[in-house]
Amino acid sequence: MSLPNPSREPSTSAPPPARDGQWLAEWPLKDGAVVRIRDVRPEDEPLITEAIRTASRDTLLHRFFSPIRSVSPDLLRRMLTIDRSQERCLVGVVEQNGGTRIIGGARYVKLPRPGAAEFALTVHDDFQSRGLGTFLMRLLVKLARAESLHQLEADVMSSNNKMLRLCRKSEWGRAHWQRLGDVYHVVIELEPPPARRARPA
Ligand SMILES: CC(C)(COP(=O)(O)OP(=O)(O)OC[C@H]1O[C@@H](n2cnc3c(N)ncnc32)[C@H](O)[C@@H]1OP(=O)(O)O)[C@@H](O)C(=O)NCCC(=O)NCCS
Repeated sequence: MSLPNPSREPSTSAPPPARDGQWLAEWPLKDGAVVRIRDVRPEDEPLITEAIRTASRDTLLHRFFSPIRSVSPDLLRRMLTIDRSQERCLVGVVEQNGGTRIIGGARYVKLPRPGAAEFALTVHDDFQSRGLGTFLMRLLVKLARAESLHQLEADVMSSNNKMLRLCRKSEWGRAHWQRLGDVYHVVIELEPPPARRARPA
């Protein structure tokens, strides 16, 4: 099954665009709901706090390396204060039961090494294993390539099978692994997009 292109424009039935202009992409779910992706905004704080409050212990452990139940206001403020020249942070938004939820996030932060960035993904338990993590990664890789990044790296717990599997997908490029105790450090060498890889004879 081919997955939707992350650059796809929102459909005409999309909710009003994000305040800063547009939804970046959308991911339709089998139950008819649609996850819409946009850049994070400082006013997302209550929705992100709620997502963390309702996430499972494993999800929090795998994302933060500690089974936290809440994030300190200081860390949250830092997570939501984005310097677009150095980082990108996306959120996945769904309309559900008359309310809005943030149910996913993807982030990269540039490293001092030119062309390299650290990244992380999160999908709320209610929406995991439905392709959203792969979709967010695809979008993040697209944005990273547009910024001339060629390496994305992350620390992944050795118990985190879904993330390990996601990082191994060949569509991003070759992944290099280093095991440090219970954590794998993965460096993904981003392949140029297929159009640029094909050279005329
Ligand atoms: C890791 C995470 C982002 C993946 O998101 P997701 O939406 O569940 O991922 P997908 O549905 O796209 O599935 C990704 C891969 O995991 C596989 N997968 C799904 N469920 C799985 C399971 N229970 N066990 C092992 N692999 C599984 C899928 O098969 C898929 O691989 P495939 O496409 O080759 O089949 C999500 O599970 C998550 O947020 N986990 C907690 C936070 C975290 O670990 N973040 C990463 C820190 S760097």
